[in-house]
Amino acid sequence: MAANASAVDRATVRVDVNGERIEQEVDVRLTLADFLREKLDLTGTHLGCEHGVCGACTVQIDGQAVRSCLMLAIQASGRSVRTIEGVSDGTELSPIQQAFWDHHGLQCGFCTPGMIIATEDLLRANPNPSRVEIREGMSGQICRCTGYQKIVDSIEAAAAVLRGEEPPPAPSTGSDRASAPAATAEG
Ligand code: FES
Ligand code: FES
Repeated sequence: MAANASAVDRATVRVDVNGERIEQEVDVRLTLADFLREKLDLTGTHLGCEHGVCGACTVQIDGQAVRSCLMLAIQASGRSVRTIEGVSDGTELSPIQQAFWDHHGLQCGFCTPGMIIATEDLLRANPNPSRVEIREGMSGQICRCTGYQKIVDSIEAAAAVLRGEEPPPAPSTGSDRASAPAATAEG
């Protein structure tokens, strides 16, 4: 007996995204990344490689970092998704976002949403990582711009703040600090 194509190809996803209950009928082949970006307009989740290598699409599912390009939207049904849009509290940057800003942990910013989400995951598991542990923990997140040094600096500073300690001093700030993120880059 021939299958009903429409019933097979579409399903309802019921998911909590950044605290909001979402219910939508979707193509069963729609990835979670495309669902977030195209159906919910949460375009802070970036797509780089689209096959699980770069980490740009990292979000949290039930508090754990996952690559949303490798997951179907319907697989998130019944679960809780947190994207970069859910990280800050209104206009206030989270401590991790602030540390990336203060320590020049980004240049073009393409990798940054995934970096921030992955950093939350890393610091939850290990609140006081060494620089080697930071590099190991973030090894699945690819950045084409920074050379990683300043990302490690940022995560080290964020970890200190989250432990309630004084963070390492931020690099000296010039007039460029008020400009676009690209202006925070060092050669
Ligand atoms: Fe998902 Fe690269 S876009 S890992
Ligand atoms: Fe440009 Fe990481 S890819 S800041």
